[in-house]
Amino acid sequence: MIEFFINGEPVQAETGQTVMQAAVAAGIDIPSFCWHPKLSVPGNCRICMVEVEAEGGAWFDISCNMPVTKGMRVLTDSEKVKELRKDTMQFITLNHPVDCGICNKSGECMLQDHHFAYNGMPSLSRDPKTHATKFYPLSERIMLDNERCIMCSRCVRFTAEISKSHALGVQNRGDHSLIRPAADVNFDDDAYSDNVIDICPVGALLSRELLDHARVWYLKATPSVCPGCERGCSINIWHRKPEWKLQALDPHLNTRIDRITPLENPAVNGPWVCNKARDLAKIFERERAVRSMVNGAAADLDSAIRAAADLIGSAKRAVALVSSWGSNEELAAFHAALGPSFTSYVKADHVPQPGERIEDDVLIKPDKNPNGAAARAMYPVLPANVGQAIPADTDLVFVWGEGAPFAAIPDSAKVVLLTSYALPENARADVLIPISVQTERDGHYTNFAGTVTGFERCFAKQPGVADAQSLFEAIFSASAHLAGAR
Ligand code: SF4
Ligand code: SF4
Ligand code: FES
Repeated sequence: MIEFFINGEPVQAETGQTVMQAAVAAGIDIPSFCWHPKLSVPGNCRICMVEVEAEGGAWFDISCNMPVTKGMRVLTDSEKVKELRKDTMQFITLNHPVDCGICNKSGECMLQDHHFAYNGMPSLSRDPKTHATKFYPLSERIMLDNERCIMCSRCVRFTAEISKSHALGVQNRGDHSLIRPAADVNFDDDAYSDNVIDICPVGALLSRELLDHARVWYLKATPSVCPGCERGCSINIWHRKPEWKLQALDPHLNTRIDRITPLENPAVNGPWVCNKARDLAKIFERERAVRSMVNGAAADLDSAIRAAADLIGSAKRAVALVSSWGSNEELAAFHAALGPSFTSYVKADHVPQPGERIEDDVLIKPDKNPNGAAARAMYPVLPANVGQAIPADTDLVFVWGEGAPFAAIPDSAKVVLLTSYALPENARADVLIPISVQTERDGHYTNFAGTVTGFERCFAKQPGVADAQSLFEAIFSASAHLAGAR
């Protein structure tokens, strides 16, 4: 370790760390635009300038590229440093529009924050601002506002160093510079492209899906886990704050997922997620199953529980297909309450879709379910030869979740189905009970490496929908009660 001083206070740094890295580790704020902890250091924005006190007189340099030396004395907020930052902001805003009132990054824009802290002045230039393309579609997913770009090169470095698609580059020079897709690469093929939206320090890179849908200050982030594969990346699910509830528009807008961003988790995904996480609303917001059914007729939840318990209690050969989207808590509840009643197998609720990336060396893993590891620790995997697992004389199949091979279930077998979605195969169920989805409950998943991560509830359950965790116990109790009465 090396000791040096920031603003007169001793700070410990690792050998080889820059002043910026040591400051961040010590919780000391130095403004930045181009620097990102997971990317290389171009040193092109100059806003991180600090003063170094030395015997021959002070000198100034950018902290993101300055190695710490023993005993070094750094000032991050001296009058001269503030003056230099003001000059830097004057330069950066020479051509940057002052359109914060309509900018889609407002509420999260680093340029607004630094401009307010160090400059706050209108442009001193008498020349008109250089105008550039306002809506340039960088891909099917991302829109670029060239006038807001401050050429920090974070997006270019991300595609070169993290996603390795090399999809973006800089065209032209000086104030005519433009971020553009590389001629021979399709940015849509970059499975991690949306991370550039997060790391763009200004409102230049925008999600075409989210564009103009919601302001950040109307939204709340709930910590969660991406169920898109067995990596189990930590995410934030953004949705409308209750206090900003919409009264007049479609009430569904109050309970929809507005956007998803990475939640930094060094043990799992660092600060990144793949694009599948961004599209989770398409999975969670499919048409829901909200009504219990018994023999094709609508029933209340208690009747459905009794009907399921009756079928389970009278079955002679029963098989259960366990969900690999169930949380650790739900798996434990199933194991404790109903597990002993069945020959149980873990099924894949989701399999790779056509065109989906199966696996890579960044984040994406081949099992497209979040909790397969925990489920497999309890039960074997449903074999490819389903007929062996579901013998012809099976008289009850208990299906939890999606992805069950209904075609392989003997016609004579009764089916108890616990599902969240209104799917055509639901018609095969003799008893159907709707269950909550991840955004409606708390829980934990165990990822492929054994790391356990928690998710929290974003929305209330719809009436008539049960949590699988309490349902297993309720069915077990009803089954025991019925057995006692027989
Ligand atoms: S688009 Fe954003 S991330 Fe890319 S260079 Fe411009 S300001 Fe930086
Ligand atoms: S790598 Fe897997 S868990 Fe992570 S964001 Fe992508 S699909 Fe979700
Ligand atoms: S953050 Fe150091 S030069 Fe940009």
